[in-house]
Amino acid sequence: MEKFNICVVGAGYVGLVTGTCLAELGHHVVCVDSDPKKLKVLRAKKIPIYEPGLDKLFQRNIQSGHLRFSGSIEEGMGKPGRRAQVVFIAVGTPPRSDGSADLSAVEAVAEAVAKSMRAYTVLVDKSTVPVETGEWVSKTVARFNRKGVPYDVVSNPEFLAEGTAVEDFLKPDRVVFGVTSPRAEAVMRKVYAGIKAPILVTDVKSAELIKHASNSFLATKISYANAVAAVCEKVGADVAMVAKGMGLDRRIGNQFLRPGLGFGGFCFPKDLEAFYWLSRQKGYDFQLLKAVKDINEFAKTWVLRKVEENLWNLEGKTVALLGLAFKPNTDDMRFAPSVDIARMLKDRQVHLRVYDPVAMSNARALPALKGARFCRDAYDCVKGADAAALVTEWPEFRDLDLTRVHRLMRIPLILDGRNFYDPATARAAGFTYCSVGRP
Ligand SMILES: NC(=O)c1ccc[n+]([C@@H]2O[C@H](COP(=O)([O-])OP(=O)(O)OC[C@H]3O[C@@H](n4cnc5c(N)ncnc54)[C@H](O)[C@@H]3O)[C@@H](O)[C@H]2O)c1
Repeated sequence: MEKFNICVVGAGYVGLVTGTCLAELGHHVVCVDSDPKKLKVLRAKKIPIYEPGLDKLFQRNIQSGHLRFSGSIEEGMGKPGRRAQVVFIAVGTPPRSDGSADLSAVEAVAEAVAKSMRAYTVLVDKSTVPVETGEWVSKTVARFNRKGVPYDVVSNPEFLAEGTAVEDFLKPDRVVFGVTSPRAEAVMRKVYAGIKAPILVTDVKSAELIKHASNSFLATKISYANAVAAVCEKVGADVAMVAKGMGLDRRIGNQFLRPGLGFGGFCFPKDLEAFYWLSRQKGYDFQLLKAVKDINEFAKTWVLRKVEENLWNLEGKTVALLGLAFKPNTDDMRFAPSVDIARMLKDRQVHLRVYDPVAMSNARALPALKGARFCRDAYDCVKGADAAALVTEWPEFRDLDLTRVHRLMRIPLILDGRNFYDPATARAAGFTYCSVGRP
C-alpha cells in the first residue's frame, strides 16, 4: 500500500484526529497549527482536547515517528525527499455575525501552501465550507503558485462527531471525494486505502453541499423531535413513545429523534446558519432551515420556562446545572446550549451552581458563566439548590444516588433536559420531576 507524506493544517478536533488516524494508517503526517499554546501541548506529547480513544493512537504514532508537529506550513510541507504530497486543510470556519462562514483561515492556508509547493500537490479541504470554496481555494493557489507547480483541489468533508471521532474517522459510513481530475481521485483512494467504507466520488461542489445538507438534515431531525415534544407537553402525550413509534418505520429511522434542550457544538448551529445564508445569497430562501433554528432557540428556553412554572419568582433562587459540554464525551463548549441557558437564568438574577466532568476549564473562560459557582462534583453542585437541571447526559449522572441528591437540595426539583432518568424512579425518590415532552 503506497504511503504518503501528508501535511494537516489545523490541529483541532478534526485536524488532530485526521492527522493521528492517517498516521495510524501508515502515512507520515505533520500536523501544523498556528496556535503556539496548542503546539506547546502537542510537542509535550499531550492532546489539548478531550476525545476518547485518541491518546493511545497519538502516543503510538509519535513514538513510531509517523506523527509530528509544526508551527509553520512551510516546515510542514517538508524538505526534499520528504515533501508533502497531500495537504489537508482542517482549520476553523467560524460564523460571522450575519451567519456566513468566515473562510479567511482557509484562504491563508491556500496561499501558504501555494508558496511552499515544489511538486504535484493535492490540497484537500476537510473543513466544513460553503459550496464554491474549492473554486476559491484553487484560484488562490493559482495566484501564489509562481513556479507553476501542478496541483489539484479536492473536497473531502469530514463527518466525524466529537466523542466518537476516532471510530467515526476509521470506520465511517461513507467517504466523499469531490475531485476535478482522475489523478487526484487516485491519490485520495490510496490515502484512504486502509479504510473500509463506501467511497462516493463527485464533483467538488456536490461534495461541499453533501456536508452542509447532511448536517442541516440532522439538525432538522432534532428540531422536529423538539417540536413534537412541545406538542406532547401541551396534550399530555409521551414523546418517547411517539419517537419510538416513528423510528420503527425504517424510512424514518430511530436516530436523532430524541428531544432535549436544543443542539449545539461547533457544527450544527454554524453549518445550518451558513447553509441558510448561502442559499439566500444564491437566490433561494430555504425557510425550513430558519424554522429549524427557531425551534432550536425555543428548545433552549425549556429550563427557564420550567423553573418559572415550578418556582414562581426566579430572583435569588439557585439552579444547579449538571453538565455543560454541548454533549457527553467532549470538553467542547462551543455553542453549547448550557451557555444560553446560563445567560437566561443569570439575566433573571438566578444563582448558578455548575458541574461538568470534563468541560470545566473551557467553561470557566466563558463570560456567560462568570459568577457561577464551579462545583467539584454533581453532589456539590446540587447542594442547597432550588432546582437541578440536567443539561448534558454524562454517563456518570446515570448513577447518582437520588436519595442523597434529595437530601442535599433545598427544593427537590429535577428538570431533566435530556430525558435521562426514569420519571417513576425520580418521583418515587420524592422529586418533582419534569422532562421534555413526557408526562
Ligand atoms: N468539531 C467537529 O465535530 C467537526 C466535525 C466535522 C467537521 N468539522 C469542521 O472542521 C473544521 C475544523 O473544526 P474543529 O472543530 O477541528 O476546529 P478547531 O477550532 O478545534 O481547530 C481548528 C484549528 O485550526 C488552527 N488554525 C486556524 N487558522 C490556522 C492557520 N492559518 N494555520 C494553521 N492553523 C490554523 C487553530 O489554531 C485550531 O487549532 C471546521 O470547518 C468544522 O466545521 C468539525
